[in-house]
Amino acid sequence: MTLPMKQHLIDPEICIRCYTCEMSCPVGAIEHDDNNVVVNADSCDECMACIPVCPTGSIDNWRIVAEPYSLEEQYGWEELPEQEDIALAAGGDTDDDDPIAALLAEAHKGAGGRPVAPASAARPSVNLYPLSKPVAAIVQGNYRLTDDPDHDVRHIILDFGGQSFPVLEGQSIGILPPGEDAEGRAHLPRLYSVSSPRDGERPNFHNVSLTVKREPGGVCSTYLCDLEQGAEVRVTGPWGQTFLMPQDPDARLLMICTGTGSAPMRAFTMHRQRAMAGGDGDMVLFFGARTPESLPYFGPLKKVPDTMLKKHLVFSRIEGQPKEYVQDRLIAAQDDVAAMLSDPATHIYICGLRGMEEGVERAFTSIAESIGEHWAALRDKMRDDGRYHVETY
Ligand code: A2P
Repeated sequence: MTLPMKQHLIDPEICIRCYTCEMSCPVGAIEHDDNNVVVNADSCDECMACIPVCPTGSIDNWRIVAEPYSLEEQYGWEELPEQEDIALAAGGDTDDDDPIAALLAEAHKGAGGRPVAPASAARPSVNLYPLSKPVAAIVQGNYRLTDDPDHDVRHIILDFGGQSFPVLEGQSIGILPPGEDAEGRAHLPRLYSVSSPRDGERPNFHNVSLTVKREPGGVCSTYLCDLEQGAEVRVTGPWGQTFLMPQDPDARLLMICTGTGSAPMRAFTMHRQRAMAGGDGDMVLFFGARTPESLPYFGPLKKVPDTMLKKHLVFSRIEGQPKEYVQDRLIAAQDDVAAMLSDPATHIYICGLRGMEEGVERAFTSIAESIGEHWAALRDKMRDDGRYHVETY
């Protein structure tokens, strides 16, 4: 390593300790203890694989340092240190007026690329309620969305009463399940995308909805799915600064999701219906589920007019029919998808199972090829423009 260097760091005040970054780091440079999640400066190669997967943005912090912060120092932090005013070595490879800013900007030239919010998106609030100061919300409703007896997906409405909790479509909130883990520590928050628009599940009521699937043995999903009306829930957030919708009624939205990944797509659709109808932008949804009985919001979705939302509901487990995934339908609808890919007004949103990403990439590669485009280049350009968004788990 040459000094001074730019060092990758995690903001301990914003990090919710979900450890997704640690799991996604291909070189094992990220680790944690009971206090913090930290980055080893000796092994981090700035590949950026961890940047898009972080739900809070706490991962995306960089300092130019004369001497890298050690793991021990990072483990002890309660907040990120300010950028120190260091003298850059002679021969620093920039003649910019602000060499530190220039070097920090370099930090985003990695492989995955930095996710960027749509240019016209409203400004989100984040971290109003950190882990140390969660807000209490009251359960207004808990409704089952699926008829499949083996597949329990809930629509849960949380009311914040007079407390400020501004949240935009595409943002997430943290839910703190009560109780302790096997080591006797309080549970960490689990993140859920809001499925309601910014003005509330019910317009101008101070409430948000979540779409929650009961996972076998899932601590937080079991807690949420069993909640009674009137119960109090501790919430952190809001979180998320890039998976946001364009505030442009002429923007076209290409939305691809599986299962509960439909939550932000519902929020986008409702916001368009309520507040942005009348623009030229269309919305197209590719939604994968096992069967119609296990597809959340099947009934209400069918009622959204096709002129506003073109729906491709794709099923993988219908008896007597071949398995179909969203990526198969993208290919089947290749001409329409290609037309959207070549339109600079198009924004792509992908949310749901991580496994779908590879198949969707393959589908886009082939569709882009059919119009003489190179998908990787187009995707990177769209991402830089704030028009390509992925949130998978
Ligand atoms: P499968 O029948 O193979 O499980 P849910 O979360 O409600 O189970 O829905 C997830 C949907 O995504 C299911 O239809 C599931 O199909 C499908 N799926 C599973 N793996 C992939 C993948 N790699 N790419 C796209 N869809 C997938």
